[in-house]
Amino acid sequence: MINYNPLCFLCCFVLPIFLFVYPTNASSRNNATPLVDQVCANTSNYSFCTETLYSDPHTRDADRFGLAAVAFHLAYLNATATKDYIDNLLKKNSTSKSQYHKDLQKCASDYKKAVSAIGAACDDLNSESYYDLADYVGVASHRADDCQHALKGKHDSLLNSMNNDLKGLCEICVVISKLFNTIGF
Ligand SMILES: *[C@@H]1O[C@H](CO)[C@@H](O)[C@H](O)[C@H]1NC(C)=O
Ligand SMILES: *[C@@H]1O[C@H](CO)[C@@H](O)[C@H](O)[C@H]1NC(C)=O
Ligand SMILES: *[C@@H]1O[C@H](CO)[C@@H](O)[C@H](O)[C@H]1NC(C)=O
Ligand SMILES: *[C@@H]1O[C@H](CO)[C@@H](O)[C@H](O)[C@H]1NC(C)=O
Repeated sequence: MINYNPLCFLCCFVLPIFLFVYPTNASSRNNATPLVDQVCANTSNYSFCTETLYSDPHTRDADRFGLAAVAFHLAYLNATATKDYIDNLLKKNSTSKSQYHKDLQKCASDYKKAVSAIGAACDDLNSESYYDLADYVGVASHRADDCQHALKGKHDSLLNSMNNDLKGLCEICVVISKLFNTIGF
């Protein structure tokens, strides 16, 4: 006859369920999905990454394609907003000969290139081409860095933090791009 030993029941049924459930919870900090958790764990700032991705409601049930769409879209909006901010500063003072004005002009040219590179990445995503994604965001990140160096962190703390935001977003996009680097994909 089958003997339902309570201890055996614990080992055979309860423990495996516990072991199965517990690690998934433990590996997903901040209730991030396993995919978001994996991506963000590979960036330099986990909380920036999750906060940024979850600012878009699509992240909650996104696969890698959906997550790529979210991240590149956010990067595009961010770069565009910063480009507009710089262009407005320049417009306000179009006759200035100051060094700051020259630095801003450098940043304006940087952001024009950053926006166009991220735009090209978004076009690639839309046409399901994944090979150049990381290169494009690399260009954008480099441009934000270039602007930051032109300003030397002195003049404009808002623009400085905008540069950091774009670099952080680009880092997330690079990690997501690697999800598509599978042989035979
Ligand atoms: C993230 O890092 C883990 C190791 O910590 C690695 O196994 C995984 O492939 C990485 N994922 C991406 C998308 O880079
Ligand atoms: C990480 O990002 C958060 C914003 O999400 C910021 O407050 C924090 O300073 C960042 N940490 C580092 C080490 O950059
Ligand atoms: C740019 O991205 C950062 C990080 O997600 C966010 O805090 C900031 O509000 C964004 N800026 C704009 C103008 O979208
Ligand atoms: C405009 O330029 C002048 C001369 O370079 C400078 O003194 C002034 O602070 C600038 N104003 C703005 C809003 O940037």
